[in-house]
Amino acid sequence: MTHNATVKDNWTKRWTFILAATGSAVGLGNIWKFPYITGEYGGGAFVLIYLACILLVGVPVMIAEVMLGRSTRANPVDAMLILTERENAPKLWSIVGIGGVIGGLLILMFYSVVAGWALDYSWQSLTAQYDGLPAPAIEANFDDVAGSFARQWGWQSLFVLLTGGVIAAGVTGGIGRAVEILMPLLIVFLLILLGYSWATGDFITSLKFMFTPDFSKLTTEAVLVALGHAFFTLSLGMGAIMAYGAYMPGEHSIGKTVITIGFLDTAIALIAGMAIFPLVFANNLEPSSGPGLMFVSLPIAFAHMPGGMVFGSIFFILVSIAALSSSISLIEPGVAWLERHGIHRKVGTTGAALIGWLGGIGCIYSSDFFNSLDHITANYILPLGGLLIALFAGFVMSRDHVKEGVRFDTDTFFSLWYFALRYIAPLGILIVFLHSVGLI
Ligand code: TRP
Repeated sequence: MTHNATVKDNWTKRWTFILAATGSAVGLGNIWKFPYITGEYGGGAFVLIYLACILLVGVPVMIAEVMLGRSTRANPVDAMLILTERENAPKLWSIVGIGGVIGGLLILMFYSVVAGWALDYSWQSLTAQYDGLPAPAIEANFDDVAGSFARQWGWQSLFVLLTGGVIAAGVTGGIGRAVEILMPLLIVFLLILLGYSWATGDFITSLKFMFTPDFSKLTTEAVLVALGHAFFTLSLGMGAIMAYGAYMPGEHSIGKTVITIGFLDTAIALIAGMAIFPLVFANNLEPSSGPGLMFVSLPIAFAHMPGGMVFGSIFFILVSIAALSSSISLIEPGVAWLERHGIHRKVGTTGAALIGWLGGIGCIYSSDFFNSLDHITANYILPLGGLLIALFAGFVMSRDHVKEGVRFDTDTFFSLWYFALRYIAPLGILIVFLHSVGLI
């Protein structure tokens, strides 16, 4: 029954897949979360570990995840079922798909709240509410935003509605088109912002902070967070990239495509960090001040630069859109799964959005709930999903099927990747896990 569980839409252009997957990867994780956790975990050494995790664990697992989706052309739950049948493996592996559907909803809960802040700041910029204010007032302004239930609830609701709208519109029309123009525009704006920070902020201190590793500051938890963030920022470990992989044209090599996406995603995070930290240091803000970091530092710049409100409006709108192109990938796996089993796309979307919306209310109400969801999904659920994906593709599937699935240009590249997938990624994840619970 599952053999014809193939997807209806198919993105014919390779670029559409790259853009959609990049749209999923590039989001609040890069612009909001990366700078703030870098600040919290002490800078350079954290950044270095994060880069190593992207290269040695994230990219290899991402290639596997795209391959699982593309070689079955199905949603993550059915994809795993089809593959267990094909490879004669226990059906229990479909837990990867089901866990992903649940994980996506859990992420949406807090993600939509932060995206709501981005919408709030878009509005504040459009209406020039913080124009010319001194830094302490701008700091207090974030506390107002994050302290108001009604305000966060309103914007979060709007964001969930928008997410549902795009998902309901369908894969090609909704997702593919939206990212095609907006992603490049976001990069242009980040680069302009980087130039401004360079010219006016404390650029040297910021570079030292981000790129001089001081390993004495590196805690076990920092390593776990760096690994978790590698998964979070690449949208890995929960089937989002598998679901998109199902729409990727069959003839292209997955390797080059994934490397392009990983490179873009990493570059955008580093640029965001380099744009934010000079402002943090120049204005005597605390790099470790937490989730408000970007929502305080950037408005300080916008408040004082010429045309800052116009610039700030466009910037925050672009961030909101980047968040949107990510959040849709959080519920696409679940919606595609339900759709395949006779539940209309619009109904599935409504259900998923409702769950995310209600959970979001919980996050607004309790910052402990917010932080736990962020922590548990990024640092445990996603790496665990990634571990299972690596083990499945690395040891359960036959080497020939895997090789056929990824379509690499050279055998050397395949062998390198296959080694990373089978040994480096799983052992890396295991070691970090065991270390973080104190077992080694
Ligand atoms: N990668 C996105 C970001 O950095 C967040 C995201 C979207 C995500 N889809 C995902 C994270 C799936 C994990 C899994 O903002």
